[in-house]
Amino acid sequence: MMLDGKVAIVTGAARGLGRVEALELARLGARVVVNDLGAAGDGSGLDEGPANEVCEEIRKAGGEAVAHFGDVADWNDAQSLINTAIEKFGDLNILVNNAGFCRDRMIFNMSEDEFDSVIRVHLKGHFSTMRFASEYWRNKSKAEGAPVYARLINTSSEAFIFGSPGQPNYAAAKAGIVAMTMSAAQVLQKYGVNANVIMPRARTRMNDSGTLAAMFAKPEEGFDVFAPENVSPLVGYLASPASERLSGYVLIVYGKEITLVGQPDVSTKFSSDETWTVDSVAQALNPHFESLTPISDGFTVMP
Ligand SMILES: NC(=O)c1ccc[n+]([C@@H]2O[C@H](COP(=O)([O-])OP(=O)(O)OC[C@H]3O[C@@H](n4cnc5c(N)ncnc54)[C@H](O)[C@@H]3O)[C@@H](O)[C@H]2O)c1
Repeated sequence: MMLDGKVAIVTGAARGLGRVEALELARLGARVVVNDLGAAGDGSGLDEGPANEVCEEIRKAGGEAVAHFGDVADWNDAQSLINTAIEKFGDLNILVNNAGFCRDRMIFNMSEDEFDSVIRVHLKGHFSTMRFASEYWRNKSKAEGAPVYARLINTSSEAFIFGSPGQPNYAAAKAGIVAMTMSAAQVLQKYGVNANVIMPRARTRMNDSGTLAAMFAKPEEGFDVFAPENVSPLVGYLASPASERLSGYVLIVYGKEITLVGQPDVSTKFSSDETWTVDSVAQALNPHFESLTPISDGFTVMP
């Protein structure tokens, strides 16, 4: 099997996307550390039950798994998570950062805690585990005098691309994850680490109620576009030797589609023979923006 002998960590693996990703990596032969606090949908509370259940599911299917109940955004817990893989299974090859929660609110109503907690769990939660995993991979590569086999798979969201209106905290955290992964991909390549980002869409408790519930609902018949299981094959691929040419990429995934997101690009350049003034900036830029079609109420967005 593709991941025989490999050791993987999946954070937030007790439910939703993390659960099916952990099951897929185990099915492909990896030994898996199933990390999850067992938090409620808003990130509060602790419950060891769900992570234990996923480990049991993996073992029943003939795989190997161990649970870790730490908070991914806690510095010591993140270090203990990386150490758990190394101590229990002797190595670490695949880190899937997935844990997180939402606390949605329009920007004018958002509390400081709603902002801080969502930035913390997603952005610092990715950084902390990446920090200790990359230290391990760099030291190992230097000691062995050769690149290691390592895959870093981070989880962003299209909320970053579309600037989700009710999620200023979440959209910002998910943008930061892309930037941080690009940074890590460049510096870690020489040690053998491929780092990529997925932007999934799937029916989980993040969207099974409220305004998005109808769109994500399971159809009465036909293909279930938003089943989380449609996302896990891409994670299996990114974890596997088959993805050796991919590092520094962002991929949107749901249903039967995988979309490669392009690099942010310069779209139009304006220049002046003289030093800019407010008037000359207006003369140069306004004809361009007047030619764009407003999407609603006179607003324009990035093309
Ligand atoms: N569901 C979607 O359509 C969608 C879309 C874009 C991005 N995502 C991202 O996918 C990831 C998984 O989300 P999901 O939809 O499966 O949600 P989910 O709520 O089903 O799963 C998230 C898991 O993370 C765990 N968790 C929360 N805080 C934690 C912490 N501090 N430490 C360890 N574990 C913690 C929770 O206990 C839960 O089991 C998230 O990063 C989310 O932002 C989901």
